[in-house]
Amino acid sequence: MARAPVQDGRDPYRHLYLPFIRVEQFHGKARSILPRDVYGYFSSGATDEKSLKENQEAFGRLLLRWRCLRGVANVDLSTTVQGTSVSSPICVAPTAMQRTAHPDGEVAMGKSCAYSNTLMTLSTWATSSIEEVSDKAGGTSPRWFQLYVLKDRRITQRLVERAEKSGYKAIVLTIDLPRTGIRYADKRSGFKLPSHLVLANFLGLEEFATENDKRFATLSDFADSLFDISISWENLDWLKSITKLPIIAKGVMNAEDANEALRRGVSGIWVSNHGARQLDSTAATIEVLPEVVHAVNDRVEVYVDGGVRNGGDVLKALALGARAVFVGRPALWGLACNGEAGVSQVLELLNKELELSMALCGCPSVLDVPESIVVPAARYRSTL
Ligand code: FNR
Ligand code: LAC
Repeated sequence: MARAPVQDGRDPYRHLYLPFIRVEQFHGKARSILPRDVYGYFSSGATDEKSLKENQEAFGRLLLRWRCLRGVANVDLSTTVQGTSVSSPICVAPTAMQRTAHPDGEVAMGKSCAYSNTLMTLSTWATSSIEEVSDKAGGTSPRWFQLYVLKDRRITQRLVERAEKSGYKAIVLTIDLPRTGIRYADKRSGFKLPSHLVLANFLGLEEFATENDKRFATLSDFADSLFDISISWENLDWLKSITKLPIIAKGVMNAEDANEALRRGVSGIWVSNHGARQLDSTAATIEVLPEVVHAVNDRVEVYVDGGVRNGGDVLKALALGARAVFVGRPALWGLACNGEAGVSQVLELLNKELELSMALCGCPSVLDVPESIVVPAARYRSTL
């Protein structure tokens, strides 16, 4: 059910699957095989990593209350995002520099997502270009392009135009990175893009060649030198004026910003704290989700990411009003461990867990998950 049909009816990756039954096992293997600086870059959160833990732990403070005898012989995970069909509400978040995880990087991620009709979001900071991913990954599954607004608006505009021309279905504007947060692991390791890799979306753009060749002393120095740190809501008006694609605001953490984004005409709101990599002591995203869903009040779709590690987490997010859920690190761990097949196995694992959780909670369709199946654990404790 979690799978889109394939031509010969067989999973082309199955014989490559690792003997793993949990996302955490992919994490463990990735930790053991990746170079230390790359693992540090992927895994770390901002400063003391309180919010990194919170993102996951907050899911544990929500309990599921099943409903019984509701006819769950067939559980349907299929849904739509921005009007496009996908096999499941579990989608892939943008993560930078995927060729540091695996030589096939974003292309492998794209192929795996295309195979299972999963939505993939490509980062501005990809090590495979917008065009390479759409040409080589193929398939009919939707892809979105994540945009950082650069100081140079012409280059920013060109990125948007290239994404539109290459068939990407939405622009995801990341609004939670006016500057890069402090990540101690990167400071300790001095993590840099290895010299055989490039930020592929900037190749051929004279303005960036020098920066790219110089590499960067630290990732955050480089990012802060390229990104427009003065970006404000007015820039959304500019972005709207240069593209016909729907714009999704990624990094919304409260009702005020959700309302502002909606006033500016976005087509989707993505609740995110950037995988807790920006500011420590921010709230867990799953705890912020209800406030944003309430403010948006069905005007556009609401998505969430941060700390989703199993199918039960996904079900909780759907019950609290998310249309879809995005995973960042889990997909990276799959990619690092086993390329395309690894991503595929991680997605399959999560989808199977979601399907079973739905059956056990009496929910036959992801389009109709009642809010009442989720309750805060504190509610039970206070009545003891
Ligand atoms: C990210 N994220 C991110 N977001 C974005 O908009 N553009 C980007 O280039 C990146 N790069 C990136 C790199 C790495 C290594 C990580 C871990 C994350 C944030 C990402 O899209 C997403 O918000 C989080 O990863 C979600 O949290 P989980 O699923 O990793 O817990
Ligand atoms: C990061 C940036 C690149 O989180 O989004 O590392």
